[in-house]
Amino acid sequence: MSDEKAVTIPAQSEGEDRTGGEVLLKVTGLQKHFPIKKGLLQRQVGAVHAVDGLDFEVRSGETLGVVGESGCGKSTMGRLITRLLEPTGGKVEFQGKDITHLGVAGMRPLRRDVQMIFQDPYSSLNPRHTIGTIIGAPFKLQGVEPEGGIKKEVQRLLSVVGLNPEHYNRYPHEFSGGQRQRIGIARALALNPKLVVADEPVSALDVSIQAQVVNLLDDLQEELGLTYVIIAHDLSVVRHVSDRIAVMYLGKIVELADRDLLYKSPMHPYTKALMSAVPIPDPRRKNAKSERILLKGDVPSPISPPSGCRFHTRCWKATEICKTTEPKLIELRPGQQVACHHPENFADQAPQDTVLLTAAKEAAELVADEVLAESAETSAAVAAEVEAAAEAAEEVEAAAETEAAKGTKAPKETQVTKEADEK
Ligand SMILES: Nc1ncnc2c1ncn2[C@@H]1O[C@H](COP(=O)(O)OP(=O)(O)OP(=O)(O)O)[C@@H](O)[C@H]1O
Ligand code: SF4
Ligand SMILES: [Mg+2]
Repeated sequence: MSDEKAVTIPAQSEGEDRTGGEVLLKVTGLQKHFPIKKGLLQRQVGAVHAVDGLDFEVRSGETLGVVGESGCGKSTMGRLITRLLEPTGGKVEFQGKDITHLGVAGMRPLRRDVQMIFQDPYSSLNPRHTIGTIIGAPFKLQGVEPEGGIKKEVQRLLSVVGLNPEHYNRYPHEFSGGQRQRIGIARALALNPKLVVADEPVSALDVSIQAQVVNLLDDLQEELGLTYVIIAHDLSVVRHVSDRIAVMYLGKIVELADRDLLYKSPMHPYTKALMSAVPIPDPRRKNAKSERILLKGDVPSPISPPSGCRFHTRCWKATEICKTTEPKLIELRPGQQVACHHPENFADQAPQDTVLLTAAKEAAELVADEVLAESAETSAAVAAEVEAAAEAAEEVEAAAETEAAKGTKAPKETQVTKEADEK
């Protein structure tokens, strides 16, 4: 199969609701502190507060996107909910069952239901094993004998993810990055999981290949009724796959909202800054001079996070209360939870406190688009690719609908794209 085939990323249609299912995963106060040890006696001298109190739910059939800057704890969160890491505190429930501290034996039956796709398709596949062995491994580990045998099932999985079943005996190095990620996806799907946690599933791939893999994940969700938690630092990828999005900052969720609400009207200043750094191609605004918010300063260390609101050292709206009192994540609008004393697009939650901290006056800068253009080049390429693919998908869909209304066959172009996708 060639990786250079036609690409369409289906944007979820407005109003489509996949969030109405039962609660599959429930996370309460989840924490992971990595101890820092020093000296001969390896005494603990501190801890990295990688994940520091997360509360969220994932409903059956939905996709929860998780975004945030590097080091904010996204991967740690993914490893905690798949129980590849032991939480320091809090609770993880899967289908109503407390799995927070289950041991290897207790987790074994659950390993079938919860799977993870890793970021790097190069290091996550054992180079000494054939892809048949790699994709068949979960059956052996779980002692499951699929109908027709493991080989037949692996070949079926290969064709499900768009690879040639004949390549069963080939080694990972014989495949491209996009194809290797498909192998990783096939392995994750082997045991017919309910929840798939994908940690940066496309960030190691070329922009053109990213769209194909995102497209494949989306198709598989439709066909197999999967539930996803998709971790990414790229907001344009998350936008097209998620029903809801959680924005993380220094081990906390600062905003958790329905996708459309988050993009149309972000309420947390950090979300606003993250979004304003993403160029959204809009032909209507081609000649308009726009400005973006550029956050100054580095992300503080998770070893000793700032007091109160952790964002107060970089927030241009920070007041005294932000420094002293941690804002709770509360639902300020239906479908939009925010942790902020002075949210955007909403009534002030601490109206008595109006004096800006000195740091706030220097925290952010409004920068003209052209200045940022260079640094945002990669981001822009991804955004443009995703937007173009989404538009193409919409056009094809609209054409198919028109044709269907006429009672005739779908246009040739639609068929070609679909066939290519199925190959
Ligand atoms: N095993 C570990 N021991 C100590 N610290 C760790 C460990 N794993 C992660 N950390 C720290 O925890 C914090 C969160 O890391 P994590 O990998 O979860 O971030 P991330 O959001 O996935 O970042 P990225 O976008 O770069 O992948 C970081 O400061 C990281 O250095
Ligand atoms: S306004 Fe205050 S509470 Fe809100 S993000 Fe800024 S520092 Fe945090
Ligand atoms: Mg990570």
